[in-house]
Parts: sequence; structure tokens; C-alpha cells
Amino acid sequence: MSSIDPTTAPAVDPGMAVSTAPYAAPSPDRFSENDAALTPQTWSELRQIAARYPEARSGLLPMLHLVQSVEGRVTPEGIEACAEILGISAAEVSGVATFYTMYKRKPVGDYLVGVCTNTLCAVMGGDLIFERLKEHLDVGNDETSADGSITLEHIECNAACDYAPVMMVNWEFMDNQTPDSAVRVVDDLRSGAEVRSTRGPALCTWKQAERVLAGFPDDLADEGPSAGPASLVGLGIARANGWTAPGGEASGRTSDEPAEAATGTEGSHEADRADSEGEVERSGAELKHEDDARGTEEAQ
Ligand code: FES
Repeated sequence: MSSIDPTTAPAVDPGMAVSTAPYAAPSPDRFSENDAALTPQTWSELRQIAARYPEARSGLLPMLHLVQSVEGRVTPEGIEACAEILGISAAEVSGVATFYTMYKRKPVGDYLVGVCTNTLCAVMGGDLIFERLKEHLDVGNDETSADGSITLEHIECNAACDYAPVMMVNWEFMDNQTPDSAVRVVDDLRSGAEVRSTRGPALCTWKQAERVLAGFPDDLADEGPSAGPASLVGLGIARANGWTAPGGEASGRTSDEPAEAATGTEGSHEADRADSEGEVERSGAELKHEDDARGTEEAQ
């Protein structure tokens, strides 16, 4: 069981303070067979998930996330439960659970830390971050620290290259990391201090995040920033140069077909574009502010 409760952890400066608190003592029976088992409530929730879909087996992916939220991994018991509810074989469930890397067959720590080592993040420092965390936590890839708090893995591109090098904690973004900031993040997590995603809410435990992925919201989806200027720089450059998107053929409609008839969503696209343009204007001002500040720093 986790000895870290983020809901009662003291608030600190967003995620970056170095903690001097001792690490939580590992629980001796943490990964024992009796640590957690599927309860009647879990069986009921697994059935609820299956009932959400016209074809019950479409619910398998969130059902496996729910199993992980309870048992800390996909267990044989969880596989059998999913198979029984969906009326498919355990081999079919196991085939899915072993195909996707988000499903874990080994127990995961309180927090799953993934370091992007795909090309862009790697050259921007991701490889260094991963090596530093392996050394700091004394683990290899896909291994859990001795106190059971952190599971470390290297991950592929998370489509956040504009904030490289990127680290994920329970699939929440930690942008623009360095080896030192990454160590501070894991140390704060291990001490029970509150750590905030750079583009999301305060971090919860991996099991809590798995429950959200199973479709049981924690109502924190809108907490924290969800986008930033770096994602909008390309749009700003296009606007400054008068560049526009390709015409109808590129979107799959014929040139004489009205846009509204082809998609029925042109109005909402226009609204989205207006929102984005507002963001670009704001972000342009912010970028100029950042550049001015950087120039002042360099001049000093
Ligand atoms: S290469 Fe790391 S997020 Fe794309």
C-alpha cells in the first residue's frame, strides 16, 4: 500500500522544491498476493464499464485500467475477471494486456515516471535525464525503486516535442526538464510533497490515475494549464507571413463542394480558429516579454 497521500501532502511551490523529508519506509507486504484483490465493488465497476459499449468487449481497455487501479498491475485474477464478464477467453484478454505498453504485468510503484528518449527529446537532454534517474533511483528501465515509490521507464514520443525534453508522471506532462529538475520531481514525489504537472493538475498516484483512465473521472481534467505558447509558435509565424492552409483537396472534399456541406463542422472550426488566433496574439506578446527578459538577464 502507498504510504504517500497526495491529498494531505503539504503544498509547496509548483513541483520544484528540493525536499529534505525522509523517504517513506517501504511496506514489507507491498506486493504480496493479498495486497489487493478484486472486490465485489470492482466486479460491479468492471460490469459497468462493459455495459457502456454496444459491443461489451469494446470495454476491455478501460477494464484493464480499472484492474491496474486496484491491483497495481494486470494480474491473472484480473485477466480472468475481464474474460468472464466479456465472454471471451483469458488468452484473448492476455493478448491485449501484453500488446500495449500501458498495461503492466509487474507491480508499478506509487508513481510511474516515463522519460521520453525519442529522437528530439533524446538530443535535447532526454538520454541524460534517463541516465541520471536510473543512477539516482538505482533502477534500470521498467524497474521500481526499492522503497516502491517510483517505477522508471523510457517512453516513445508523447507528441510534446515542442517542450522537449519531456518527462511524464502517470501520463501527466513535465515539460522542459533537466537532469536536476527530474531528480527534484522524483524526490518530491517520494517525500509526499505536492508536485504539479507543468500542463495539468497536481499529480495523483498511478493507481488513482489508472482509475481515471478506466472512465471514473476525478474532476481535475480542467485543472492547470493545458497549452502554452510553444505549441502556437508555428501558427504565429504562418500568420506573420500570410501563409494559409491548403484548400479543399487536402481535407478530402472536392473543390466545388461547399465546406459546410462537406463537414458540417465549419462553424466550429471557425470558432476554434478565432480562439487560436487570440491565443497566438497573446502568446506572441508573452514570447516577446520572455525574449526581453532574457535579453535583460544576458546584459547583466
Ligand atoms: S520526441 Fe519527446 S515528446 Fe516527441
